[in-house]
Amino acid sequence: MIKQLVLRSRSIREFKKGERISKDDLIDLVNTARFCPSAINLQPLKYKVVDDAATCSRLTRMTRWGSLIKDVELPPKGKGPCGYILVCSDDSIARSIEFSRIDAGIASQTIMLAACEKGFGACILASFKEEAIKKTLALPDGMTPLLLIGLGIPEQKTVLCETDDDGNTAYYRREDGAHVVPKRHLEDIIL
Ligand SMILES: Cc1cc2nc3c(=O)[nH]c(=O)nc-3n(C[C@H](O)[C@H](O)[C@H](O)COP(=O)(O)O)c2cc1C
Repeated sequence: MIKQLVLRSRSIREFKKGERISKDDLIDLVNTARFCPSAINLQPLKYKVVDDAATCSRLTRMTRWGSLIKDVELPPKGKGPCGYILVCSDDSIARSIEFSRIDAGIASQTIMLAACEKGFGACILASFKEEAIKKTLALPDGMTPLLLIGLGIPEQKTVLCETDDDGNTAYYRREDGAHVVPKRHLEDIIL
């Protein structure tokens, strides 16, 4: 059921050490995203997949994870992603970067869900050093990075809860290390 998969597919910021995700698995995730809706069906998105450990470590250092959690390094040292997918907009195809951003969101969530179904954990990242990443990955000219998705084998317990009366949506780390994510009540989002 899609709802169960959406509930299970949480943003993961702590991964098992020493695991690999094959390039074939990463490309298969892109091959699922290929069939997503796209504004005017332009399909401006292009993807760079990364599966080698050294480049993954470099990319992790160019990203910002879980900025609301102050007292813990995320991902913890040595527990970063073992795969990345960079979602880019091809400027020669895109007519509006806004539409590309919307396409990228749809594609990224689709990748998250497909990854979860395969037993991987992932996190969508918008907070990254764009120029450093372009250089590291030797991106061709005309590619605008929009979102980066870090992937690995999850080693994180996440608990979903409903927001308190104050409506605070800030996620936090519980004393036992569980990651708690408040979601707004259904009645608060139906207009
Ligand atoms: C567009 C977008 C950008 C995001 N950027 C980051 C990011 O840069 N770093 C990060 O740690 N998480 C990032 N996230 C993950 C969110 O923080 C996460 O979705 C939120 O905390 C709720 O947790 P959940 O995905 O488990 O429901 C991003 C999510 C989205 C949709």
